Amino acid sequence: MYPADNERRDAARQMTWLAWSAVFTLASFSASAVRAQPIEVESPGKVLRVTFELQKNGAPTYRVDRFGFPVIGPSRLGFRLSGERSLDRDLRVASTTRGGVDETWTQVWGEEKHIRNHYNELAIELADSTGDSPRMGITFRVFDDGLGLRYHIPPSPGLGDIEITDELTEFAFTADHRAWWIPAYEHNRYEYHYTDSPLSRATKVHTPITFETSDGLYLSVHEAALTDFASMALWRKEGNTFEADLVPWSDGIRVRGSTPMTSPWRTVQIVDTPGGLIDNYLILNLNEPNRLEDVSWIKPGKYVGIWWEMHLDVSSWGSGVKHGATTANTRRYLDFAAEHGFDGVLVEGWNVGWDGDWGANGELFSFTTPYPDYDLASLADYARERGVRLIGHHETSGAVENYERQMDDAMALCRRLGIRAVKTGYVAHGREIQRTDGAGRRHKEWHHGQYMVRHYRKAVETAAKHQVMLDVHEPIKDTGIRRTYPNMMTREGACGQEFNAWGGSNRNQPDHTTILPFTRMLAGPMDFTPGIFDVLFEKARPHNRVSTTLAKQLALYVVLYSPLHMAADLPQNYAARPKPFEFIKAVPTDWEETEVLHARIGDYVTIARKDRNSEDWFLGSITDEHGRVLTADLSFLDPNRTYTAVIYGDGQDADWKTNPYSMKIERKSVSATTKLRLRLAPGGGTAIHFNPTPAANSG
Ligand code: NOJ
Ligand code: CA
Repeated sequence: MYPADNERRDAARQMTWLAWSAVFTLASFSASAVRAQPIEVESPGKVLRVTFELQKNGAPTYRVDRFGFPVIGPSRLGFRLSGERSLDRDLRVASTTRGGVDETWTQVWGEEKHIRNHYNELAIELADSTGDSPRMGITFRVFDDGLGLRYHIPPSPGLGDIEITDELTEFAFTADHRAWWIPAYEHNRYEYHYTDSPLSRATKVHTPITFETSDGLYLSVHEAALTDFASMALWRKEGNTFEADLVPWSDGIRVRGSTPMTSPWRTVQIVDTPGGLIDNYLILNLNEPNRLEDVSWIKPGKYVGIWWEMHLDVSSWGSGVKHGATTANTRRYLDFAAEHGFDGVLVEGWNVGWDGDWGANGELFSFTTPYPDYDLASLADYARERGVRLIGHHETSGAVENYERQMDDAMALCRRLGIRAVKTGYVAHGREIQRTDGAGRRHKEWHHGQYMVRHYRKAVETAAKHQVMLDVHEPIKDTGIRRTYPNMMTREGACGQEFNAWGGSNRNQPDHTTILPFTRMLAGPMDFTPGIFDVLFEKARPHNRVSTTLAKQLALYVVLYSPLHMAADLPQNYAARPKPFEFIKAVPTDWEETEVLHARIGDYVTIARKDRNSEDWFLGSITDEHGRVLTADLSFLDPNRTYTAVIYGDGQDADWKTNPYSMKIERKSVSATTKLRLRLAPGGGTAIHFNPTPAANSG
């Protein structure tokens, strides 16, 4: 029914495009003599309207209305360049082209199998107001639930290599909206807890940044297809207006490149409900289709690993008596994974370089030399014989030159050993990525500037070449690259579970995971590493804990989407609670469909998802520190079947603070007409597995 391969997809797209161009090119040629007039483009369902206009001085602007009401007021567009005339004024419209697409494409894996891409496009070419030379193109793609805009700088006389010193794109919000944001340019990269405040309290922020307006609209600003550019942070320029803030190189230049040059898409999601932010695929739609021909080796799945025990300080990454990555310990995890049907075992601390202050000495890491007490080759065989795979680990400590020198060999080694996935890591302060220039001088680069965007891109491409899937910790933010490189599976880029092990008072509070789906996770999947069963770990770290009930840990597998999900706790803690562990064993990580049932940012969220490989449905519902009673309408289920719902809920006396382990597991017969009452304890949740009743019994 849907074109499953790239070629057919591209051909179909091309045809729609040609059909549109044929209709619109004529119109635009005849219109191109009229100049300072505003130029409008509406979304296919006439929900959003974007208006482009040149000011008197030839400065480009845009604004966005929804059903005739302003959402983004007049906002500037353009760039400043070093040593060149800037691309922010003295421009005239040379031509406009209109088009549009309505197609449905298939994700290799994901939270939704089939994605509709439906927009109207307006592309404007701007030339010198005084001459003919082309200066800049701006393309708008307007969907019913948001828009993307991007720039194109064509070659022109004297404009080959360019240096962007500033991007001027503004987002002029119409009021001091409530906003959820994390600060940009801080040492801990993207790992901050979200502030919920009027936008006027924000100064420099990362994207996605999410807003709620007093009219009940939900907005989120981010970017799509960041491949060779600086990340776009935002700074609040004045009042309610944010401006793009491209993360600079160490010398202050924001972006280096040569013409023709295309920027990433600047995106704004605009919807009526918080849930509408989640099932909004604008960012994926604005990325290029899959470039990998053979995707048979790309497999979502679940893993366990030698990991949490280091964070609890039970074992160490470095060598010695506490070394976690020993052959014997890895076999124990592999046996456990095989017994319970996990796909992979992550082993951290397997390679030399961890002894001493590893965070400061990333140049010492070898990505091909195991510690002597870790028999890599025999473990890889041991794993494969049991139907499990080792998951590689490349912690770089931000020493990317050391990593780039070894990356090809390291990935080739993975391929030889049947290691299909690698977790990478870039523990380093936000501005302390070391770069050596051609003259041998050392520079410190930002973690999210163009230098690192290029590095992460290189890692994805090298991994793809060796058929390796990536799980990136301390990543560059996700901008939907997984569509183009579906081996780019998941990443961290927010405070994950580990903050509960060592965060102290900075651990994740109960509302953290009720904010993530509406902020960080709008960018893409997250390797949060849920599933801690020993939430108090009183023996290991008596002053820290996980701020949830046990049932909420299960619900996170559905709520927080990731194609690779970890069962993060120690095998013995799962062995001690076999019944709730059944849910983790059953929950898939690749979905046919996603439905958001309840959503209030920072308070609660309920998501139902259908397994891509069976008729089963799963539901996760979580709350913040307040208990809730929510009614789940099960109309997403197949109306022609009945289901057995296995419900993993908080016990009557559960409370994350005082009684986190209290859990009630029930079985109920349900159908699409059932309204299910969910009772979530303070800091709690509910996880449900819906199994269709075998046809013979379903009446
Ligand atoms: C930080 C990562 O988030 C964590 O998962 C990893 O264990 C350590 N770095 C060491 O690489
Ligand atoms: Ca709250």
